[in-house]
Amino acid sequence: MAPVVTRPLEGRRALVTGGGAGIGRAIVLALAAAGARVAVTDLDESAARAVTAEAGAGHVALRLDVTDAAETARVVAAAAEALGGLDAAVANAGISTMARVVDLTEAEWDANMAVNAKGVFLTDQAVVRHFLARSTRGAIVNTASLAAKVGAPLLAHYSASKFAVAGFTQALAREVAPQGIRVNCVCPGFVQTSMQAREVLWEAELRGVTPEAVRAEYVALTPLGRLQTPEDVADVVVFLLGDGARFMTGLAVDVNGGVFMS
Ligand SMILES: NC(=O)c1ccc[n+]([C@@H]2O[C@H](COP(=O)([O-])OP(=O)(O)OC[C@H]3O[C@@H](n4cnc5c(N)ncnc54)[C@H](O)[C@@H]3O)[C@@H](O)[C@H]2O)c1
Repeated sequence: MAPVVTRPLEGRRALVTGGGAGIGRAIVLALAAAGARVAVTDLDESAARAVTAEAGAGHVALRLDVTDAAETARVVAAAAEALGGLDAAVANAGISTMARVVDLTEAEWDANMAVNAKGVFLTDQAVVRHFLARSTRGAIVNTASLAAKVGAPLLAHYSASKFAVAGFTQALAREVAPQGIRVNCVCPGFVQTSMQAREVLWEAELRGVTPEAVRAEYVALTPLGRLQTPEDVADVVVFLLGDGARFMTGLAVDVNGGVFMS
């Protein structure tokens, strides 16, 4: 009988962006539990350090602003140097704001696009360059969103940035498939993180309802009947980076409790 693989990423080396909080933190901890050594990167360096310590020995923390091309290239190289190479990456860093399109400022549009869309491009580009230079048949997961599948009121700019992630993921997956590199994205729904806590307050104010009503609506929209945890997403990321997903690429995988089924 074949042995049961309990640590599917044993010996792998992974970089995670936005790893200092929320979904990114859960991804770091799940990757570490699966046997990977992780370069935990975040705009907030102290948060990255705290999560690195939580993950145990063998991981590194690095400050990274994913909107900065030169810094992204430098940090990907530093992570590879520290871990002895990279086999996997998760471009997870993201931000959100809420506004009706008629009130949306150009600065808000640009900020969401810079982190969510350009940040994924810059991270994936640096990682793919690393893989190609070493003939590494690596795997990448980008964090998109339910908002990459369905446009939601108050989130047009965020939604546009996340549709961009899904399209970019497909195109890149086709480009690098001949080299054995896989690129997928995950599309979480209503995940309990600090981003959600901020969004609930904004949405309540913009719609003139209570935060409790907004949260209850999120649950009511979710067939599996609860708010999502960061770990619900992280477990799928581990699977997508592992050999179990060896014939999956270019996908935008729904991880949303059934809110939207595609
Ligand atoms: N929370 C949700 O409901 C939800 C749903 C779908 C998708 N997502 C996506 O999941 C990802 C993580 O979201 P979260 O809910 O954990 O958010 P969060 O705000 O809790 O954590 C985001 C992390 O990203 C970091 N970050 C922000 N800007 C950065 C930058 N320029 N460079 C590097 N790091 C930066 C922050 O410091 C923070 O540690 C995002 O891409 C988000 O769009 C979240």
